[in-house]
Amino acid sequence: MFRKHNHDNQGEKYEMISFSGKKGLVLGIANQRSIATAVAEVLNELGAEMAFTYGPDPKGRFAQNVEKVAEEMNVSHVLPLDVANDQDIADVFGKLEKEWGGLDFVVHSVAFAERENLETAFSLTSREGWNIAQDISAYSIVPVTRYAIPLMRNNGGGSVVGMSFIGSVLAVPNYNVMGPAKAALESAVRYLARELGPENIRANTISAGAIRTLSSSGIGKFGEMLKVAGEHSATGRNVTTREVAMTAAFLLSDCASAITGQTIYVDGGYNIMAN
Ligand SMILES: NC(=O)c1ccc[n+]([C@@H]2O[C@H](COP(=O)([O-])OP(=O)(O)OC[C@H]3O[C@@H](n4cnc5c(N)ncnc54)[C@H](O)[C@@H]3O)[C@@H](O)[C@H]2O)c1
Repeated sequence: MFRKHNHDNQGEKYEMISFSGKKGLVLGIANQRSIATAVAEVLNELGAEMAFTYGPDPKGRFAQNVEKVAEEMNVSHVLPLDVANDQDIADVFGKLEKEWGGLDFVVHSVAFAERENLETAFSLTSREGWNIAQDISAYSIVPVTRYAIPLMRNNGGGSVVGMSFIGSVLAVPNYNVMGPAKAALESAVRYLARELGPENIRANTISAGAIRTLSSSGIGKFGEMLKVAGEHSATGRNVTTREVAMTAAFLLSDCASAITGQTIYVDGGYNIMAN
């Protein structure tokens, strides 16, 4: 990861990127396999100071899991956050404002759909199932960014990254209700990018290749999806959470200062293959 700097009249040189002095919020760690965990690991290696949140979990494991990841990275701010709850969002950003005053980045690595909507025929998607998927997986990036804006302003700008999937533009078997949700997420970052660009606040999504995680295991026949993605990508293999995380760190860094409103594919070229 590289950062540009001037070097004694010899033109522009590049040096290792650093997140030292940068502060950010990471949403979406559920366990060690989460994409958000890999993103946090890379950002931690690059020196970022972070706060983590954990989503609602009827079995109560997420808080414990996130605390464990936080401990490994010396992260002291671990907060509950249900992105479907406006008060939760306000509380989290209120705490960050008190603690830090400013914010440099937000990682939105959150999605949810009722299991039944990921297994049955798409035409059977219920109104409620549609609304839940849209609310948690797409709309939530809007209020999360809204609350981040004043804090990012205080730091002279910022960067927001969300996680998408190719099901936003292609009809992927069983992805169903999540497809339109990801399409909305990608569209939302374009509108956020347009609005916030003048304030040096950027918003992008990463369209990640299929990876086995807690969420993806809820998609019907996910094993098959994973196999197809590996076999039909240009690289001939599946992507890793680490590869997604490296791109997230790049997009969150000043190296990506002119990249906004984009959907960046980190899928081994799966999206460019005719078959
Ligand atoms: N795994 C894949 O194949 C893949 C591919 C492309 C994109 N993605 C996206 O990456 C992101 C992270 O997913 P993952 O695969 O790491 O799975 P994951 O299950 O580890 O992460 C999903 C996270 O969403 C959180 N969440 C769900 N409902 C929430 C709510 N109401 N409030 C707050 N948080 C909530 C969960 O707590 C969990 O931490 C998601 O947006 C997912 O759609 C995943």
